[in-house]
Amino acid sequence: MKRIVYLPLLPTLAVGLLFSQNPMPRPVLGGVLPGATAAERTLFDQGKEDFNDVEKAEDGLGPAFNGDSCAQCHVSPAIGGVANTAVIRAGQTTADGRFVALHGDTLFSQFSTGDRACQVNLPAEANTVVRRIPTPLFGAGLIEAIPDEAIIAREDPDDRDRDGIRGRAHRVVDVASRLPRVGRFGWKAQVATLLTFAGDAYRNEMGITNDLFKDEYALGFTPAQIAACGGSSTIEDKRSLQNGLRGIDNFENFMRLLAPLPPGRPTEETDRGREIFTAVGCAKCHTPQMFTKESTNLVFNRRPVPLFSDLLLHDVGTGDGIPQGEARGSEMRTAPLWGLSYRRMLLHDGSATSPDAAIRRHGREADGARRNYDRLPPEQRRALLAFLNTI
Ligand code: HEC
Ligand code: HEC
Repeated sequence: MKRIVYLPLLPTLAVGLLFSQNPMPRPVLGGVLPGATAAERTLFDQGKEDFNDVEKAEDGLGPAFNGDSCAQCHVSPAIGGVANTAVIRAGQTTADGRFVALHGDTLFSQFSTGDRACQVNLPAEANTVVRRIPTPLFGAGLIEAIPDEAIIAREDPDDRDRDGIRGRAHRVVDVASRLPRVGRFGWKAQVATLLTFAGDAYRNEMGITNDLFKDEYALGFTPAQIAACGGSSTIEDKRSLQNGLRGIDNFENFMRLLAPLPPGRPTEETDRGREIFTAVGCAKCHTPQMFTKESTNLVFNRRPVPLFSDLLLHDVGTGDGIPQGEARGSEMRTAPLWGLSYRRMLLHDGSATSPDAAIRRHGREADGARRNYDRLPPEQRRALLAFLNTI
């Protein structure tokens, strides 16, 4: 008799254990967030299929574009990751240090579905020309669910605690919700939500206009030139007749439900490395863990997010000179370090090819931490790098 009483409790117990015992149930590489429902898995799978879909001019690709599928730039070590591609941003920095966005924006598309006349050109005045590599999307839904207030709480633009670190939240108006929000995605934390990034990337990287970004994009082209090159005057991202979802909804679903990469197993050495990471000051910006806000969805409810970032903007001397929204040319978002061991090209332009090289490029606000790193005895530096390899 007793057993009958306990039986209905079992599923609840199992779910409770899954979420309470472990800081993060162990995810599968490229898989769905642990704990997702069957309905969420379906949305994830459908989203992933669209994310992989290679588009052609007939589907709306172009006229100017950088890639023909999301997965072209987000593929390794699993769909949603990175690739050895880069996009180009450019503008003019004047003698007195002002930045001029030459045609009102800074992203210059690399390819065209039309002929030579349809190829976007960098203006001759462009003297700040930079590359940016893709950022990985693993765990993006957890990052999205971190409340704005938690990011703002870590800001210190006036350096009140006098540690030389002046993190600033990137305040934006979210295109999808039209609400004032704290940006967190992209190298400059320039976007607050995955739906907005999906709309932005679909139009800006692939040339597919959608409900959020309605006009074709080809920097320096007049509307007549865009039309002559095959640009569309109607929205290209249509709702599916089967389920009512748009491409941008599919991308959002896939990215929101994509699990973080499984972390490496800790050893005695990496445990020491974790302590050194904090002791030398890395954790002042690379916040080891934040939490998602309260949610009725268990998967997102007050979950720990071991992202190793404060999601704030800092000047660590690596800035690309391109202002974006409220972010200055000198500022970059603290790069989340989870999944670091799966990437070789590091920093926003891929110019560092190892964590050690990336750390040695840190200056300005990170000068103290870098000096501490430089002074570490080799065995402690090895422990720190071994730790970075597990997160
Ligand atoms: C040509 C390469 C390319 C293609 C195609 C591409 N991306 Fe990206 N993606 C990038 C680059 C580069 C960045 C970093 C951009 C930046 O911050 O300036 C990025 C960043 C992102 C981010 C921010 C993640 C974070 O945490 O910073 C999201 C979300 C994203 N892409 C989604 C998409 C989606 C959805 C598609 C398809 C509609 C797509 N991307 C297609 C290159 C690409
Ligand atoms: C003042 C804030 C700050 C401190 C302190 C700091 N970082 Fe960073 N870190 C950043 C920012 C901002 C970036 C992104 C720079 C860029 O892409 O140009 C970054 C990038 C990185 C990267 C490259 C990641 C990637 O995805 O490309 C690594 C690795 C890294 N930091 C490790 C460390 C370590 C280890 C320490 C301690 C020795 C440290 N950082 C201290 C802010 C900081």
